[in-house]
Amino acid sequence: MESYKELLEGNLRWLGDVKKANPEFFSKLALGQSPRFLWIGCSDSRVPATEITGSMPGSIFVHRNIANLVVHSDINLLSVIYYAVEYLKVKHIIVCGHSSCGGIQAAMEDRSFGFLDNWLNHIRDVYHYHLDELQKVSDPELRSDAMAMINVRQQVWNLSKVSFIRQKWEEGGFPVLHGWFYQIKDGMLKDLNVSVHSAEESDKLSLIV
Ligand code: CO
Repeated sequence: MESYKELLEGNLRWLGDVKKANPEFFSKLALGQSPRFLWIGCSDSRVPATEITGSMPGSIFVHRNIANLVVHSDINLLSVIYYAVEYLKVKHIIVCGHSSCGGIQAAMEDRSFGFLDNWLNHIRDVYHYHLDELQKVSDPELRSDAMAMINVRQQVWNLSKVSFIRQKWEEGGFPVLHGWFYQIKDGMLKDLNVSVHSAEESDKLSLIV
């Protein structure tokens, strides 16, 4: 019933540790944020952007949703990206997928998940496009991880089509878009080498997506 209290207690322990290591940390942070990175990740509780990158509060601007999707009509996501690029002037945007992603696995199943289908259908479009390639992977766990990596490439590609990102590229070659993959079983983050920072690169990327 009162399990939520462990979070408040945890906060007190955490802030004590941070203050011990760096007494000025919170007073400096209160002056404002200037994160250099925007992270678009999955809502999965096992993939928190700050912790897995060894970062502290203030370093990463974050948007998370089920299966780290970049949907062009998602006004919430677009507002986060716009604010990050125009006001915070972040130079790097990272789309991060992960192993054993429940959203990816659900989208690959041939059954309905009710209301969630409305979101999962974005992933299903990508899945069906890559069905031949994915059916060659017989292990179900490896197949869903392969799909999660394809999904990251697709979402980087989607990001590369966003109007104001293209406008920024014309002005100065930033932000750079990256696609990463996080392996839950060993805690390792991997760069999928699908980085893009120009419309020309985006067009090339579409050949492999
Ligand atoms: Co996930």
